[in-house]
Amino acid sequence: MIVNVPLSESVTIPQLGFGTYLVDPEQASDVIASALRLGYRHIDTAQMYRNEAGIGQALANAIGAGISRRDLFITTKLNTPNHLPDDVRRTFTQSLQDLQTSYVDLFLIHWPMPMYYNGDFVTTFRVMEEFLADGRARTIGVSNFETHHLDKLLAGAQTVPAVNQIELHPYFQNRELASYCQEHGIAVESWSPLGRGRVLQDATITDIGRRLEITPAQVVLAWHLAKGYIAIPKSTHEERQRENFLAAECVLSEEDIARIDELDKGEDGRTGQHPDVFSRL
Ligand code: A2P
Repeated sequence: MIVNVPLSESVTIPQLGFGTYLVDPEQASDVIASALRLGYRHIDTAQMYRNEAGIGQALANAIGAGISRRDLFITTKLNTPNHLPDDVRRTFTQSLQDLQTSYVDLFLIHWPMPMYYNGDFVTTFRVMEEFLADGRARTIGVSNFETHHLDKLLAGAQTVPAVNQIELHPYFQNRELASYCQEHGIAVESWSPLGRGRVLQDATITDIGRRLEITPAQVVLAWHLAKGYIAIPKSTHEERQRENFLAAECVLSEEDIARIDELDKGEDGRTGQHPDVFSRL
């Protein structure tokens, strides 16, 4: 059973979702159709991934076949060149059109972009608060925000971000940031929960998997869930999608969780760019 994590008084998010970073736009419809067939109901995309239209097609087909929109949880993210207020409004409307939906469940600022727009992501977020007010976003949040970005946002916005989606996996546990979020009522969502597949060969992970008769990916995902993090593994292979989905049924002992906690490599474990230097516009 996938747990639903509360994000607000009226919104919950399935703790295990399906990520779509690097899912080819041409394949997106088929990949999402297979994820929905397997039971995933939480789908995470972004303007940057350029696959919203394919995902929208799969969602529309699923709704046409009887899945209720209310049972789906759809996240998308504001692309980095779109932070200026009119661009936020225009591209959000385009995302809704591409996704073939009248609202998303979660809309995130993808990167804080501190070296552009005078680092004014607070204004960007205040525009996103309009979508909360008009019902086109059920919740809003951020991604790749460090504690100093969050300090600034909490001081300047009306709304506490529901989520901070950050790189987090056994080799990069991002503990200080995760604790900050939890202390401020911001749900932690792990991107690249499998460390882009790199942690799956780790001897501790494979050892635990062998003993419990589950796969390395299931060990890692069960660790995220035990920590209370939302995780969005992605796979283009149906068998792996199934395997990852079934991780919700896997339970680790306190001892195994502690062994995985010891795998943290700090900054050396990061697979993506540090948000303070991210500059892809
Ligand atoms: P693929 O899409 O070819 O299945 P992350 O979510 O941490 O970024 O990891 C995604 C990477 O891990 C992708 O390369 C994906 O490959 C691979 N992957 C996803 N699920 C599994 C799994 N259960 N076993 C092995 N590799 C996986």
